[in-house]
Amino acid sequence: MMKNSSKEQSDLNKNNPGNFNAQLHDESYEAPYLSRRLTSESMIVTGGRETESLNGFWNFAIDQYDTCIRSKWYEEKYADEEGRRLPVDFSFDEWDKIQVPSCWNTQREKFMLYEGPAVYTRTFLYRNRGEKKVLIKFGAANYTAKIFLNAQYMGLHQGGSTPFFIDATEQLQPFNRIIVVVDNTRKREQVPCKNTDWFNYGGIYRDVELFRLPETYIKDAFIHLLPGSGREKVRVELAIVGSAADDTATVSIPELGWKGEVGVRNGRGAAVFDLQPELWSCDRPKLYDVSVSYRGDEIRERIGFREIRVEGTDIWLNGERIFLKGVSIHEESTANGKALTEEEIKENFKLAKEMNCNYVRLAHYPHTEKAARIADEMGILLWEEIPVYWGIAFDHADTYHDAENQLAELVLRDRNRASVIIWSVGNENADTDERLAFMSGLIRKVKELDPSRPVSAACMLDYVHHAMADRLIDHLDVIGVNQYYGWYRPDFNDLIQLFANSRPAKPVIITEFGADAYPGLRGTVDEKGTEDCQQEIYKKQVDALGGIAYVKGCSPWILYDFRCPRRLHVTQNYYNTKGLLSADKTHRKLAFHVMQQFYAGLNERRDDL
Ligand code: GCU
Repeated sequence: MMKNSSKEQSDLNKNNPGNFNAQLHDESYEAPYLSRRLTSESMIVTGGRETESLNGFWNFAIDQYDTCIRSKWYEEKYADEEGRRLPVDFSFDEWDKIQVPSCWNTQREKFMLYEGPAVYTRTFLYRNRGEKKVLIKFGAANYTAKIFLNAQYMGLHQGGSTPFFIDATEQLQPFNRIIVVVDNTRKREQVPCKNTDWFNYGGIYRDVELFRLPETYIKDAFIHLLPGSGREKVRVELAIVGSAADDTATVSIPELGWKGEVGVRNGRGAAVFDLQPELWSCDRPKLYDVSVSYRGDEIRERIGFREIRVEGTDIWLNGERIFLKGVSIHEESTANGKALTEEEIKENFKLAKEMNCNYVRLAHYPHTEKAARIADEMGILLWEEIPVYWGIAFDHADTYHDAENQLAELVLRDRNRASVIIWSVGNENADTDERLAFMSGLIRKVKELDPSRPVSAACMLDYVHHAMADRLIDHLDVIGVNQYYGWYRPDFNDLIQLFANSRPAKPVIITEFGADAYPGLRGTVDEKGTEDCQQEIYKKQVDALGGIAYVKGCSPWILYDFRCPRRLHVTQNYYNTKGLLSADKTHRKLAFHVMQQFYAGLNERRDDL
């Protein structure tokens, strides 16, 4: 019998709709789940709130063909309308269990290289205790997350490194099942896109928490020194949600014996107060407990009051010019992938301090909010960044909205953190008209959300003329420059030429320089991949940039080796080995000490900045 052509086949379906089975034949099955976007609008301030953790062992299955969504497993249809049992291809409670939060890659050998959809599920009990609203917060899931609660689709979050919330109020029962379909497939139009120089971990890899709220509650509180006020005025901005959104909030700082009132109208309120708190700095990271209460709701934040400002080619912290003695880090550990523990974050910052750093570039995406909280306590300055990295689809509207939303989620999450001094809107993008429009939009957005911090990006150089010529520079407060003279660009003299050719009117941070070195591999300075070669390149780099007046910081690439599927040389073995330490952070390479001595020297030499 002749096989029907695809056209005839579709006519057959049209003429015989009874044999069309959506679970098998509908390749547009995802359409209903692209609605109900969970965006920065869903966020609330959580500082000081009582939380109930949904962390723990969740049932889990890799779902390569996305069958949970295609076949609507989340409806848990075990019988037909007449009550006759139906066969099902899932058994939620008998599945494997993995830890939430974690990256599935580190939980089982067989999950290590998996990229695609995977299903998480757990049950939990709930009893109302008088609250009027219940939100469930996910710290992050890479890359998309579709949430189902008691068979109800709750929404889709895009973006692998920022928090999102679902409003569970209407769906909660005494006994509940939550299902999360996480998909870490890399896609051209996502942020980041398909090609990056880091490992693509997947999963719900940050905390999941439940919050109980009154009908009217504090949605957001931004508390900071008012820029340009001589560091003697504190601005408080509030957002309130609920029916009673026209009342007065009280802000208090017990350690200062101070209380202030903020009038709220239509859910918004702002006020400026004359206050002279002890300033936060790297040497004295002073934090105050600040509480905000509004009609019975209360939040508490630990706030460091400091002023970061750019003037000419200088960066000023609390009225003093500073040099950012930094290093870049990826969010990764050999044991936990991206799901860093607080101990691992503290270890990273201690290693940075051992190298005499006062600053860390959190590359290339928002790290866990715990990093900024720990940096607040330890007195470390931070560069935070969204993964607008390399070949983004700059001409694609949805891509822009994804990037802008991730930026908003990052800024709203961390703008109360004293340690965060620079927002970065991207890394190493080609200088095209579409990219300029895209990044200019992001810069407008971040200044709208937070006018108190400078904005930057890690720009690429004009390697033909050896100059800083990226058109984005005109839109930045601080110029980030990645340059690999001595490594990808062997002729070091071009670096000297670069500095001679460039006369920026703004501060420059050398956001990346470096070289690969296999831990422990020794040889001559000309042998690429040896520690001796890396050390020699670092020596030449710091000798060159140390004398350039408009260079006000650097964050060499990178503190420790990290997993990377692009790095297949036998001495790399799936790792980018530009670290100053080995991936397990036990071995300090020779170049670590070059930076340690350079920064120590800066304490004496550059205070005349
Ligand atoms: C680039 C990029 C990094 C990358 C590094 C390298 O500058 O920003 O993400 O890992 O160079 O080539 O090692």
